Amino acid sequence: MKNIVLIGFMGVGKSSTGKVLAAKLGASFIDMDLVIEAEEGISIPEIFAKYGEDYFRKKEADLVERVAIRQDTVISTGGGTIKNVQNLKRLQNSGVIVSLTADVDTILERTSHRGDRPVLDNADKGDRRAAIEKLLKEREGMYSQADFTIDTSDKSPMQVVDCIIKRLKTRGVLHA
Ligand code: S3P
Repeated sequence: MKNIVLIGFMGVGKSSTGKVLAAKLGASFIDMDLVIEAEEGISIPEIFAKYGEDYFRKKEADLVERVAIRQDTVISTGGGTIKNVQNLKRLQNSGVIVSLTADVDTILERTSHRGDRPVLDNADKGDRRAAIEKLLKEREGMYSQADFTIDTSDKSPMQVVDCIIKRLKTRGVLHA
């Protein structure tokens, strides 16, 4: 099986969906953010605070290189992974790119806790909804480069996974 790569904004459910999808397909699962945290021995907010975003992006690009040569793997990327065109190309060559989306209310609800997401916290000048809307606008063109898109608002990870599997069968990536 080709890799299945989940992309999308913070809070759209890339990690929770990826885990369930991999289990259902009997595939390996890589949550890129968790791998980076394990390899660095500190959390992503701590990496940003200690070494800065550029350092994190370098670690992210190094990891993309390693995961893109795998097969049979569901890969949950970070929300900014494909800002780097080289990362996107590598992931496109390794599999199918699935974009997960959600409406602003859902994203707001899922990312309301400060301290977990440094990019969103930095953009948040007191109005978190406005910060989300601004970043979404900047990034929507980037996420639309996926092979297909699934809206996760009001859906459980299991329901999202069922939608993804249906689409993968239609495209012939999975056997019907
Ligand atoms: C980021 C999203 C985060 C994480 C890092 C940067 C971004 O991942 O990779 O904080 O630039 O959107 P999630 O999308 O899993 O929150």
